[in-house]
Amino acid sequence: MTSCRDAFPAPKPAPAPDRPMTTTHVIVEDRPAHVPPGTLGDRIRPDFPILNQLPSPGRPALAFLDTAASSQKPRAVIDALTTYYETTHANIHRGVYQLSEHATAQYEAARATVADFIGAPDPHEVVFTRNTTEGINLVANAWGRRNLRPGDLIILTVMEHHSNLVPWQLVAEETGAELGFVGMLPDGTLDLVSLDALLARAPKLVAFSHVSNALGTIHPAAEITRRAKAAGALVLVDGAQSTPHIPVDVVALGCDFLAFSGHKVLGPTGIGVLWGRREILDGMGPFMGGGSMIRRVELTHSTWADVPARFEAGTPAIAEAIGLGAALTYLKGIGLERVAEHEHQLLEYALDRLADVPGVTVLGPSDPARQAGVVSFTVDGVHPHDVAAILDEGNVAVRAGHHCCQPLLREMDLVATTRASFGPYTVQSEIDALVTGLRRVNAIFNG
Ligand SMILES: Cc1ncc(COP(=O)(O)O)c(C=O)c1O
Repeated sequence: MTSCRDAFPAPKPAPAPDRPMTTTHVIVEDRPAHVPPGTLGDRIRPDFPILNQLPSPGRPALAFLDTAASSQKPRAVIDALTTYYETTHANIHRGVYQLSEHATAQYEAARATVADFIGAPDPHEVVFTRNTTEGINLVANAWGRRNLRPGDLIILTVMEHHSNLVPWQLVAEETGAELGFVGMLPDGTLDLVSLDALLARAPKLVAFSHVSNALGTIHPAAEITRRAKAAGALVLVDGAQSTPHIPVDVVALGCDFLAFSGHKVLGPTGIGVLWGRREILDGMGPFMGGGSMIRRVELTHSTWADVPARFEAGTPAIAEAIGLGAALTYLKGIGLERVAEHEHQLLEYALDRLADVPGVTVLGPSDPARQAGVVSFTVDGVHPHDVAAILDEGNVAVRAGHHCCQPLLREMDLVATTRASFGPYTVQSEIDALVTGLRRVNAIFNG
């Protein structure tokens, strides 16, 4: 018996959709008054319907500064989802009829788009997951439980998102492996001396975020990977905050795994990516069992499909994968260098403006060249949740809390910060609205 997937190894190309799918940004004339022409953000903003809604009466225009939590979606992605459901939906890899073959072709085309976006040599190395969290759990379970032994060392950093801590805690508890942590320097960068000390203990795996979601620090991922590989470790890069904002190429990074989330990279929720080096994925057993991931099933045991099907049990998020493909095509059309440059200009502008607001302390790297478009700060005497609530009264959306990085916040003797984060569609006037809101916070709380 072959698996359902094996029956259709080479899907036919998809038909041209009835409605053209927008893959590059468009300029429309009815830009809101607060959006001046000029920057990348100004130019592509009309592509994002949610950012062009009229605010409720009496409320200022939305300043959306929470892209690190989840990005907004361009029309190209919304159209890809709608067109798929209107013209193509059927279950994939198993239908003997045209509609299913077309859906399969689009799903697999999205996989190829992902591979191209991250410089992966082979689309079979791209596993669709639900999000970054699931990608890391997949490695912790499918690789970790099989390969880790008591006393084996896994290196993480104190700056990790809970998604890159808790799965390793669980697998360490089960296997007897130990966790070691790279420390943080006072300026919010990683202490690479402590990395070297840990690497001397021949770790099995080093897993770290490329960009910190809490402080915006861009870690020297290629350098960390080079040192880790020289010590014989596998390397997992949590690309949740890098893949959407700076060019990420898995070959240039030299890592073994990269995980990221569709919803942070202008794509839909419910879809993510785990990229893994082919020979390592081939050697891993399944993560979840069920349909689509098998080769042969007996009553008491089974054998597994090849990768990536082995790791995609059950009916996958088909429309979402296709939407992710549209998002990456859109971003590639802009160019990640251009996105990075735009967000860096916004960062410098924000740092400059925030420096003028009394009581505001910006956390994170002292060198902005090492920081992505994420600005975490505190306001003297005001709880970050109160800051965010007052900002919301001015329709400024920011995140307040521990940012799923409780250990990192503890390192800084804090329980929470307020965080503003940018995307390719962010405009300077949104940062101006943030600054106005912070002056109001001061007026209310600090007289
Ligand atoms: C650095 C980092 N890693 C992992 C995650 C988890 O992403 P998700 O919730 O999409 O799985 C996030 C989400 O904010 C993140 O910022």
